[in-house]
Amino acid sequence: MASRWTHRVRAPGRVNLIGEHTDYNGLPVLPVAIQRSVRIELRARGDRRVRLTNEDPRFEPCEFEIAADLAPFPSGHWGNYAKAAAQALQRRSGLDGGFDGLVAGDIPAAAGLSSSSALVVASALALLAANGIELERGELMELTASAERYVGTDSGGMDQAISLGGRAGHAVRIDFDPLRLEPVPLPADWRIVIANSLVEARKSGGAQAAYNARVRECREALAALLARPTALGLPTTYRGLVSGVQSGRLLELAAALPAPLSGRFRHVVTEAARVDEAVAAMRAGDLEAFGRLLDASHASLRDDYEVSCKELDELVGCAREHGAAGARLTGAGFGGCAVLAARAEALPGLLAGLAQSFYGRRGIDPVARDALLVAEPSDGAQTDRLEDAYARVGPTTMPLSAAEIEDLRRAQKLLEHPGLAIKLTNLIGTPIEKGMALLPKRASTLVNDATTKALRAALRLAVVTMGKKPRPASRATHRVLAIGSGAAGGFFGLPALAIELPVSTAIILRSVADIARSEGEDLSSPESRLACIEVFAFGGPSRGDDAAETGYFAVRSALSIAVAEAAQFIAEKGLVEEGAPVLVRLVAQIASRFSVAVSEKLAAQAVPVVGALGGATVNAIFVSHFQDMATGHFIVRRLERAHGFEEVRRAYANLDLAGSRAPPRIGPRASGDPPRIA
Ligand code: GLA
Repeated sequence: MASRWTHRVRAPGRVNLIGEHTDYNGLPVLPVAIQRSVRIELRARGDRRVRLTNEDPRFEPCEFEIAADLAPFPSGHWGNYAKAAAQALQRRSGLDGGFDGLVAGDIPAAAGLSSSSALVVASALALLAANGIELERGELMELTASAERYVGTDSGGMDQAISLGGRAGHAVRIDFDPLRLEPVPLPADWRIVIANSLVEARKSGGAQAAYNARVRECREALAALLARPTALGLPTTYRGLVSGVQSGRLLELAAALPAPLSGRFRHVVTEAARVDEAVAAMRAGDLEAFGRLLDASHASLRDDYEVSCKELDELVGCAREHGAAGARLTGAGFGGCAVLAARAEALPGLLAGLAQSFYGRRGIDPVARDALLVAEPSDGAQTDRLEDAYARVGPTTMPLSAAEIEDLRRAQKLLEHPGLAIKLTNLIGTPIEKGMALLPKRASTLVNDATTKALRAALRLAVVTMGKKPRPASRATHRVLAIGSGAAGGFFGLPALAIELPVSTAIILRSVADIARSEGEDLSSPESRLACIEVFAFGGPSRGDDAAETGYFAVRSALSIAVAEAAQFIAEKGLVEEGAPVLVRLVAQIASRFSVAVSEKLAAQAVPVVGALGGATVNAIFVSHFQDMATGHFIVRRLERAHGFEEVRRAYANLDLAGSRAPPRIGPRASGDPPRIA
């Protein structure tokens, strides 16, 4: 099909924790890549043209021809960020293959969260994908940083480096000349909140001149200092000064400079020291010390660097009043966002406090304005080849109708609440752990083995027999069959598992396929068939090693690459090579989750009060659990076909936000989980 997108690139925005206006002085920064990003779906063209459409109607479509010297669109035009990448890459590697791209993004613009650098990085990745070229990450970080100066801002290299080099769960200390990245784990009970002052700070607008003036003043301050006779023998760079001269002496040097250079110099050298201390505080889990550093940074940016504004000062003050350990403006300043650090338990009070005080006073609903965000430290930019079905559908951002939102709510209820362990516990009246304790030591090996075999058989079944004759979904029949299998088998404990599990799994799979069809899936496509197999990964684990991955979308994203690769493989080769690594990998990933459910089932069946009949009831619950998962999963996929993956995911996350109706999460992180404001 001519209109298919072949690739999707994604480049995240960032929030800088500390180290502001240091990067262009060769000094370190400590940003975090966030969950918000710029995405481009694309397909290569046969010529040199780049044609871009933006999902956001405020940004009109644009196109240009790749060249080593590109005349910019008028100042402030969003297409200039793509031109910046194209010009730099054409100069670097001679690439000139154009592409058609659909751009989407959810990083608030002009907010100091680096939406523009994310667009440059995404454009560069799109060009590389369209031309089949790969560049080393470090080189790409430097190339995109200098590329962006095309738009007229003399910015440093922080934003592009973190967009490409972010790490989930981590902040990243970045040093320059030469570029070095050092991930620093964010302590589990810290939360980073981004609060938007809603004062626009456009990098391509008024803030640009003010930003460039700061860059110039820093150079002038250094030159003025080195020109003094007393400077003889001093290092000649900011980096040299910060690492080789005592802080007291640096402050004396600053004081000897005229205003405003003295303040500029003082900010830069003290901020660099704060980055070192902040990294140490983060490694030590000392939130109070970290918070004090944020506060000091804000004061310095406000008084010495003069890049704050009264709204940001007020926001930072409110944040502290309502329980933040520290807060400061983030990004270039002149408006935009503040970054707040708080302990997990302080989060509800902090968000509510800000909503009432800073936003309430202005009659602003912070959720409606997308002004409050709990940062999820995320991985850096990536390029994906698109699975066929998604490409066929293409993305759209039509919002969901009220009826569809209700469907989604129903799906979410099924998918997230409650887990199998709780259902089984309710049935047997004893915590599942009791049953677990009754299982012999070798149980987990046997369970893993049986699970993998059962899933392999299910995969074979799905690929070979599915999609033949459409029938309406009939949950009851399948449940009866499964009960039958359990009852006939009775409970023979572990040895029976190897025989019984493939049977139950096959029965569940047939039922899942029926549910899939009833939600409009076309089971002749490998991708839909694999979506049936995927169901076995949902709804757990309820006792988890990695509880961060219990949510439905988290599991889907964890599986997405394996599913896409397997779908492509099956589409090309069928199932001739069952042992192919892509298929083995997919089965292993699903088995690691499915085996938790299987052990829970086994544990429930091991509790003495549950006899043969009880064993059958346990099986029935097991089957109906996965039927629930299938119903939820295929409702979500139906909505995705109409609205695109991102739109549905966003709507799903917003349902979480609806407070009282939020599904309880099962798993150790449940209590500390931040409310999802997305
Ligand atoms: C902007 C620039 C960065 C950095 C920050 C301030 O985001 O793009 O390079 O200078 O401002 O720290």
